[in-house]
Amino acid sequence: MAEVKRRDSWGSRLGIIMAVAGSAIGLGNFLRFPAKAAANGGGAFMIPYFISLFLLGIPLMWIEWTLGRYGGGFGHGTAPGIFHSLWQKNRFIKYFGVIGIFGPLVIFIYYLFIESWTLAYSFFALTGKYTALMDQNSLRGFLAGFQGLERNQYFNSIGTAYIFFLLTFLLNIWVIYYGIKGGIEKLCKLALPLLFIFGLVLIIRVMTLGTPDLNKPDWNVLAGFGFLWNPDFSALKSAKVWLEAAGQIFFTLSVGIGVILTYASYLKKADDVVLSGLTAAATNEVAEVIFGASIVIPAAFVFFGPVDIKSIAQSGVFNLSFVTMPLVLNKLPLSAIFGFLWFFLLFLAGITSSVSLAQPAVAFLEDEFNINRKRAVTIFGIVSFILCQPAVFFLGRGVVNELDFWGGTFFLVVFATIETVLFVWVFGMEQAWDEIHKGAQMSVPKAYKFIIKYITPLFLFIILGMWFIQEWLPIIMMKNVSGADKPFIFCTRLGLLFIFITLVVLVKIAWQRKKLRGIKQI
Ligand code: ALA
Repeated sequence: MAEVKRRDSWGSRLGIIMAVAGSAIGLGNFLRFPAKAAANGGGAFMIPYFISLFLLGIPLMWIEWTLGRYGGGFGHGTAPGIFHSLWQKNRFIKYFGVIGIFGPLVIFIYYLFIESWTLAYSFFALTGKYTALMDQNSLRGFLAGFQGLERNQYFNSIGTAYIFFLLTFLLNIWVIYYGIKGGIEKLCKLALPLLFIFGLVLIIRVMTLGTPDLNKPDWNVLAGFGFLWNPDFSALKSAKVWLEAAGQIFFTLSVGIGVILTYASYLKKADDVVLSGLTAAATNEVAEVIFGASIVIPAAFVFFGPVDIKSIAQSGVFNLSFVTMPLVLNKLPLSAIFGFLWFFLLFLAGITSSVSLAQPAVAFLEDEFNINRKRAVTIFGIVSFILCQPAVFFLGRGVVNELDFWGGTFFLVVFATIETVLFVWVFGMEQAWDEIHKGAQMSVPKAYKFIIKYITPLFLFIILGMWFIQEWLPIIMMKNVSGADKPFIFCTRLGLLFIFITLVVLVKIAWQRKKLRGIKQI
């Protein structure tokens, strides 16, 4: 007997588009993208970025929406079940799907802490806690003190950061507790328009910065845009730029993570995925290449010029947003308001993404263990709260970077490769093409049949291959990790292994239980 229980669902089509766009638009757009683009030389980054968008990002978006809707039809909202329903004869494929729960969970446990900084800084902006700081060093000290990396005149413990972390954590759990329609959809419908309004106000402010230093006429807004948009074809030879650009596409679109599978699993069989998927991806790209690119980079450029902006970005992914941006705003009138708009925009972007990162684990408990939503969220809350602690307390030991590497970079590519091969080569391209077009309100351009079948998997294998050739050994051997940090990184890796194995065991138990109860697994 096949058993498909009633699952949660989206309230409207706009609701799921907003939710997927909310998942995609996140700290990646406003924090990671400007930092990566600036650190990789601006214009040098944008060509591989757009090629990756069209050859990886958009095809993967369609693949995941389709797979999610397909799996949802069998009552599965996460990759183990979805993969199993695609390849029912294979007993092992469901274990590959574990990555689709592991990845988002790992991102969630560090993302939340960073998100909480944005809430804290929104508050600091309004209360004027950092407005008197007028140079990079002071703002760097402020950030380090807040993060608990040092005790200084601004903060003497991690206490303030911890309070904001708790608040952010509870807000996330509260939203997830109310479910797909009542929590996530409502949040995104409210947060996304607000985010775009805040973004627009900030862009207008940046556009009107003019040339603040008349001795440096070249440091103007137009040149700031040129820094990002003047193409640099020579960079196409650099494997690193390609890897970073492709990695950014994965992270920003939330593809290869597992969250879109879960969101799309709450669709109905006849719901369109082609136009909806494209709309969500396009909304994310507007937020990234228009909003994300038009605030921090030109603002930093006019005050610090092309050389410094690159070195600021290279000195740490958070520096442009948490050091340079408040510094720029402090030099302008109404800095409290603009500071608040900037950090609260980041917070809205963050929370609509973090709730999506939590959803696969919750859906897994609900779908495969038949646990009701409230209990699933409670279990998730307790477990994830414990798992967040190393990111909070050992930030300075490289734990967040380590989690970001495995959860937010490496496994995304691995997972995307598995789902693409499975969909296109095991399920079969003809069937896949039909499945994509069920209920579709537009046709996918024919060229994409070829791209999805050959180019996307090839591109993914090349990325993985290049990664293995260039980075595997130094990363495994912790070549770039200081001696003092090695035990922390080692423990982080052990912890990740433990989480992974636990999820594998849970999948095994879930399938055994269903078998014992005579439920045919599809
Ligand atoms: N897609 C999310 C972001 O960009 C994870 O932050």
